[in-house]
Amino acid sequence: MDAKLISEKAEVLFQKIWNQYISLAPQAEQVKTLFEKTGESSINDHVAYRTLRHPKLGIQSIARHFEPLGYDYKGEYHFDEKKLFAIHLENQWDPTLPKIFISELKLEEFPEDLKKIFKTSLESFDSQLAYQEDFLTSGSLFEKSFKTYKELLKVSEYAAWFYVYGMCANHFTLLINSLKNFNEIKEVNLFLKENNFDLNDSGGEIKGTPDQFLEQSSTKAFQLDVDFLEGTYKVPSCYYEFAKRYPRGSSGDLFQGFITGSADKIFESTDVQD
Ligand code: NI
Repeated sequence: MDAKLISEKAEVLFQKIWNQYISLAPQAEQVKTLFEKTGESSINDHVAYRTLRHPKLGIQSIARHFEPLGYDYKGEYHFDEKKLFAIHLENQWDPTLPKIFISELKLEEFPEDLKKIFKTSLESFDSQLAYQEDFLTSGSLFEKSFKTYKELLKVSEYAAWFYVYGMCANHFTLLINSLKNFNEIKEVNLFLKENNFDLNDSGGEIKGTPDQFLEQSSTKAFQLDVDFLEGTYKVPSCYYEFAKRYPRGSSGDLFQGFITGSADKIFESTDVQD
């Protein structure tokens, strides 16, 4: 396949992922429109997915859909406290395409009752579904019980989020470097707050420093009415992230990786608010 065709196919896929994302977090579209109104045409730095380490799922079940589009494995990241592992993929043909950040919950490190919830629910999951083209936008893989959601929440916010939302983008990320009217991440944050968007302030509004070649911020996850077996409840869905990258090394190329300490706090954007 030639590079142009790959880029076109990738654009179609990202549009589909975006459409699902804004159906879960309509405010994300408002954020995009807000920037467009100031004359910006935004570029996505990365799109993030979450999954479970399980033979039927795991990082590979997501990565395999991007690899035919020219995506290669790059960085690896460990989050010991949250019991997560993550990788990122970069497109070898088209550097304007977003990177893909995929994390997985290390199920084997969790207590038996949490493992059991997922193992039982996944017994009936047909592993072939993870190979189908629409897997990336297939949503929750479970019949959702609010009682189970609350049980998961006690052990891991990440597990509870995955149980409810499953296969969808957890966030899109605006690349601040691509903006004409904003240079500093704090200007972006101020603009968002002036327009009544709440930012995730876990670990401070800005995660990372120029010395780490990456600064990030994010909105708090938006609240969505979700249908459970017991009824409808509000659950944090997806959020929007903002990243400013800095040149590293003599080439002057922007750093393309991720900073574990910052990503650790960004994960908390989907925490349930008291
Ligand atoms: Ni991110």
